[in-house]
Order: sequence, then C-alpha cells, then structure tokens
Amino acid sequence: MAFPERFSNLPDYAFPRLRKLLDAHVPGGPQISMTIGEPRHPMPDFVGQVLADSIADFAVYPPNDGTPELLSAISAWIQRRYAVTLDHDRLMVLNGTREGLYNACIALCPEQKNGKTPVVLMPNPFYQVYAVAALTVGAEPVYVPATAATGFLPDYASLSADVLDRTTIAYICSPANPQGAVASSEYWATLLALAEKHDFIIFADECYSEIWRSAPPVGILDVAQRVGANPERVFAFHSLSKRSNLPGLRSGFVAGGTQGIARIRKLRSFAGAPLPLALQRVAERAWSDEAHVTASLALYQDKFRAANEIFAGLQGYECPEGGFFLWLPVDDGETAALKLWQATGVKVLPGAYLSRDADGQNPGKAYIRVALVAPKQEMQRGLIQLRDCLYS
Ligand SMILES: Cc1ncc(COP(=O)(O)O)c(C=O)c1O
Repeated sequence: MAFPERFSNLPDYAFPRLRKLLDAHVPGGPQISMTIGEPRHPMPDFVGQVLADSIADFAVYPPNDGTPELLSAISAWIQRRYAVTLDHDRLMVLNGTREGLYNACIALCPEQKNGKTPVVLMPNPFYQVYAVAALTVGAEPVYVPATAATGFLPDYASLSADVLDRTTIAYICSPANPQGAVASSEYWATLLALAEKHDFIIFADECYSEIWRSAPPVGILDVAQRVGANPERVFAFHSLSKRSNLPGLRSGFVAGGTQGIARIRKLRSFAGAPLPLALQRVAERAWSDEAHVTASLALYQDKFRAANEIFAGLQGYECPEGGFFLWLPVDDGETAALKLWQATGVKVLPGAYLSRDADGQNPGKAYIRVALVAPKQEMQRGLIQLRDCLYS
C-alpha cells in the first residue's frame, strides 16, 4: 500500500520517543514527570456550573465560527489585554491552537510564490505542528536557529533574499516554547517590516502570553496596530489551555485580517470540527474572567522564584521571561535525560526532540526542557535532584 511521501521523514513525536529512550530502564527513585507542557494548576471553579447549565447544547450542532457571545468575550479580552479593537469578522474560534496553527496554514499558504516552491519559516527548536503544516501544503520548511546567540528567537532578517522572497508564512512563538524568550516591541516591529518587504504573513503563537515573570509580554496585535501594519499579515493564536489551565477544553482563537479569517472560516466550514456549543459557553466565561488567571500566574511566579533559588550561581542558568519551561544547557540532552531517569526517576525532555538538524547543527541537542507544572513541592524535589545529578 502506498502512503504519502511528504510525511515519511517525520520523526516520532517527542513523547513516544522519550518512552523509547527511558522505558527499558528502571527509574532511580519515585517518578517525577517534568516533560509535558500540561498545566496542573486548578481549572477555574466556574467550569462545572457553566457546563451543567449548558448540557442541552450537546444536542445541537455548534456554530462554525463561534457564537456571537464567545466572539464578543474574546474581542473584549483583546481590548483589555492589548488595547486593540477587533470586530467579530477578525476572529475565528479554534479547538485549541494546535489545530488552528495547522489548518490556518492550509487555508492561507499559496501553492507557489513567485513561480517557486513556497517557504514556511519556523524557529528551531519549535512546537512541532509548524513543520507538519508546512509539509502538508507542499512548502519547504526552513528551520531558523533560535539560540543563545540570537536571544532564543529566530533572526529571520538574516536569511537570504531568495528564501525570504519565497516565504509565505513565518511561524513565531512568544513566549517561546521551549526557551521562554519573549519578543520585544522592536522584535515584532522588525518582523512586521520584513513581512511587508518580502510579502509574507506571520503566524504568532502566543499561547503562553499570560504566563510571564516581570511584565505581560507585548503581543503582535498591539505592535501591528502601533506601527500601522497591514492586518492581513498578522495572525495571532491564543489558547485557554495554558492561560486558564484548561488543556482538555481544546479552546482557542485566531485573530487576523478579515480576508484571511474569511478563508480560514470557509475551509473550516467544509472540513473543520467546530467547538461544541457547551464548550463555547465555558470558553466565553473563561475569556471574561481574569481572577483565575491572576491566581495561576502567582503560582508560576512562586515556582520560578523557587527554581531561581535552586539554580542560583549555576553557570548557563537563565530564568526565562515567559512560559513555564526551563531550557537547561547540558552536554547532550538524551544522555542527560537518561542519566537523570536512571539516577533519580525525574523525567525531562531531551531538547533535540523539539528541534531539527539544519546546516549541520541541531540547536536543541545540548539542552533539556523541564516543565514546571507539578505542584511546587514535587517540582522543587525534582529540580534539586536534577541539579545534583547533572550539575554537581
Ligand atoms: C507553543 C505551543 N503552541 C501551541 C500549543 C497548543 O496548545 P493548544 O492546547 O491550545 O492546542 C502548545 C501546547 O503545548 C504549545 O506549547
């Protein structure tokens, strides 16, 4: 039987790969999982009630684009958060950002650009759906190093004019998974100018926007408004998974130009799975409430303070500006993850499972990613064991 060639070189997903690496070995102690980016703070207390009140909504097909009430709640959140006013036709409800980041590429990436194969840019390391989206549309994925040397964000302006002139979409993640780097206003403004010059659009994955250390990260929507960017170049993806500790709700949105959003909506009306109506009601409530977000943020702030104390003085340790991961330098990520597992039972993710070989280098290879999602005391135990095992 024949299968599509374009996915044949995909590596296994990070977590099956990790199981292959670790499962044959006995953990050195009680297991502490610091691998997956699944929030474990309490979900908002109103979820159960809203769901119970909406139970009859499971009997009907949900509206494709989102209910007007949900779109209004999202629009009001964007207004509060970024001081940007967006009408409903600039918004589309998603089943979480992962599928949105994938399907928006299908909806918006042209088959060719300037008569050539299109390029889709992404940081390296990166959230893996970006590459699969590029392969799906027959574009060439170009992996751009996001290393200490580039402030852990990709320097797209350093690419050749040939690559940039073939670029249709540039993915960018801020706060970045895995490194936690946050794009500044200048970074966004430079990227917007580059997109204008080379005629491409930006997919800004901002699903960690509400998890930060010292100040709420600036978003592409507010910078785009300030610099007067063409709204059709800017698509911002947001999610309730991390903001509201609701990864199982599968709820997010994309905000963009009216033409692009119309195309995304149209494709999804044929091929998408709209968010169930009862879940749209929960999402509406979640976007309208900040108290639970503030409470969860305080827990993360506390955890990062604890992490800073544990790693104080350790060379190469940097507290990330946003997100909930540590991106720690080691000699080799796989060797370190296996050593840590065998010595202590602490499970972390080798950085190379989130990155690709490009130009003879793999910028994730000498890192591990550590998720600070477990309850604080368990997390502290895990970090102390990690420090003592890998850095002493
Ligand atoms: C960078 C990044 N983007 C998108 C997602 C997907 O989030 P969602 O749950 O909204 O699909 C994740 C989830 O881990 C992520 O880390």
